[in-house]
Amino acid sequence: MEINGKKVVVIGGASGMGRASAELLAERGAQVAIFDREGSDGKQVAEGIGGTFYPVDVTDFKGTEETLQAAVDKLGGLHVTVTTAGGGIAKRTLTKSGPHDLESFQSVIDLNLIATFNISRLAAAHMAKNEPEDEERGVIINTASIAAFEGQIGQVAYTAAKAAIAGMCLTMARDLGSMGIRVLAIAPSLFLTGLTSMVPDEMANQLVKDAAFPKRMGRPIEYAKLVAAIVENPMLNGQCLRLDAGQRFAPK
Ligand SMILES: NC(=O)c1ccc[n+]([C@@H]2O[C@H](COP(=O)([O-])OP(=O)(O)OC[C@H]3O[C@@H](n4cnc5c(N)ncnc54)[C@H](O)[C@@H]3O)[C@@H](O)[C@H]2O)c1
Repeated sequence: MEINGKKVVVIGGASGMGRASAELLAERGAQVAIFDREGSDGKQVAEGIGGTFYPVDVTDFKGTEETLQAAVDKLGGLHVTVTTAGGGIAKRTLTKSGPHDLESFQSVIDLNLIATFNISRLAAAHMAKNEPEDEERGVIINTASIAAFEGQIGQVAYTAAKAAIAGMCLTMARDLGSMGIRVLAIAPSLFLTGLTSMVPDEMANQLVKDAAFPKRMGRPIEYAKLVAAIVENPMLNGQCLRLDAGQRFAPK
C-alpha cells in the first residue's frame, strides 16, 4: 500500500530500528504514533515527526490494548504496525550452577513473543475495519532476529521467542488473508542501536566477521528501508525476511 496518508503505530519507536522506521514512514507522509516505555525518548522522537507518544510497557498486555485503542481513536484508523520492542538475556540451558530458571525464560517470552502477538491480534481487529485500498487493509511487521535460526550458545530464551515470531508470520498471513491484511517479520543481524551501543568495537568486529558483505553492524535506516519496502509491496507476505549481509554464525 502507499505509505503517504497511512496511519501507523511503531511499538518500540523511541530508539534504534523502531525510531528509524517511525522517522522514515513519517517522512514519506504517514501519520505515526510511537509506543515505548515511560522515560524513553519517545516524546522527543514523536515531536520531531509531528506524531504522538504513548508511554506503555508492552508486557502490560491489557494496558497495551487500551493504549492501542486510544492511539487508533486519535489517528482515526490503523493501517500499519511495526513492532520492535524486545530484547534478550544470555543464559545457557544448563550450567554448573543448575538449569536455566523458568522465570527469566518466561519474561523473555512475554516481552518478545506474547507482547508481539498481543499487538498483532489487536492491530488486525482495527485494520479489518478499514476501507480496502487495492483489496488491502493493513500490514503487520514484527521483529525477529537471526538468533531465531542461528542457534547461538546462551540464547535459548531469545531464540525460542524470535523463532516463534518468525513462525507465526505464515499462519497469521493465512488467518488474515481474506481480510487483506499482510503479516511479515524482519530478522536483523547485529545492528547498531540503543540495545547494542555498549558492545565494544572488538566484540562487534568479531560478531560481524562471518557476514558475506558488508562486514559491519547494520544501520537502523537499513531496517527502516525494508519496512517501507514491505508496506509498499503487496506481494511480500507470510514470511520472515533476514536482513543480515549474508551472515551465518558458528556455535560461538
Ligand atoms: N540491535 C540488534 O543487533 C538486533 C538484532 C536482532 C534483533 N534485534 C531486535 O530488534 C528489536 C529492536 O531493537 P533495537 O536494536 O532497535 O533496540 P533499541 O533498544 O534501540 O530499541 C528498542 C526499543 O524498545 C523499547 N522497549 C523495550 N522493552 C519495552 C517494553 N517492555 N515496553 C515498551 N517498549 C519497550 C525500548 O525502550 C527501546 O526504545 C528488538 O526486538 C531486538 O530484539 C536487535
